[in-house]
Amino acid sequence: SSEPVTCFAPSNIALCKYWGKREKELNLPVNSSLSISLGHLGTQTTLSLAEVDQVWLNGERLTDDTPFARKVIAFIDLFRRDQAVTLKVDTRNNIPTAAGLASSASGFAALSLAINQFFALDLSDDVLSAFARMGSGSASRSLFQGFVEWEMGQQEDGMDSFARPLVARWDTLRIGLVKVATGEKKVDSRSGMTRTLETASLYQAWPAQAARDISRLHSAISDKDFQLLGETAEHNALSMHATMIASWPPLVYWQPDSLAAMQKVWQLREQGIPIYFTMDAGPNLKLLFEAEYEADVLTAFGEIEVVSPFSAVP
Ligand code: DP6
Repeated sequence: SSEPVTCFAPSNIALCKYWGKREKELNLPVNSSLSISLGHLGTQTTLSLAEVDQVWLNGERLTDDTPFARKVIAFIDLFRRDQAVTLKVDTRNNIPTAAGLASSASGFAALSLAINQFFALDLSDDVLSAFARMGSGSASRSLFQGFVEWEMGQQEDGMDSFARPLVARWDTLRIGLVKVATGEKKVDSRSGMTRTLETASLYQAWPAQAARDISRLHSAISDKDFQLLGETAEHNALSMHATMIASWPPLVYWQPDSLAAMQKVWQLREQGIPIYFTMDAGPNLKLLFEAEYEADVLTAFGEIEVVSPFSAVP
């Protein structure tokens, strides 16, 4: 087809994190992971024919040597038989920049959906998720809404390493995005994982913890046990950060304000408010709570963005 196509994919937050690759080229993970998607927040990507390959991000054309532009073109090359077919990739994130969320997951998921449609590949969800994974591991989970589990798989070609949505929904679940200001340039997930696997002896304990946490999350979701969900997610995130901190040179993604926000969460819990947090490879917190406590959370944290993950799930 030569008609432009536009596809959307949501951002996602892992409750059990993907941390560590057993194979770096294909993004095959050491452990399975489980996430929740962010509904309407994510990336919209339009593909159209153009004179030369070009990548646009939020209305601006990127120079060809930008890391993101190179990754996007390399990804398209995986699908494009005919190198003479050159494309414009127009990527727009509606994730509020103030929320400090990574966009590579929703970006590569939206791009995979758009490629599938543009080249009329008619790929199944499983295969599309495995392809999105090659762009960025967490993108395998961003093809779907709601709770999503990425099975690590066993095969060397990675074709059994893809994500699937869980049927369960949880309409009262809320996610609060706490942006912690940072000027420092962070180490991206790929290099962070490599450093952790190569230098942190604590990492040896991670795969077993992740397996245990996935099964706890399944119980929490099927029993609608919010305390178990929150405790598991927070413990999982802090355990991942422990492996990062135990790397050399140390990988400390926290800022002083990250710790201040954690302490606020712990204080609220002491006051009887069920609220937990998770964090990725950056200084920002994602709060987990239920709708009835939204007012308390806004009082404590100010005007943060609050997402209802299941409002986008029909
Ligand atoms: C800490 O998916 O960004 O956010 O596969 O190298 O692109 P690459 O890494 P990426 O890593 C995400 C790591 C994480 C945890 C998670 O989202 O599961």
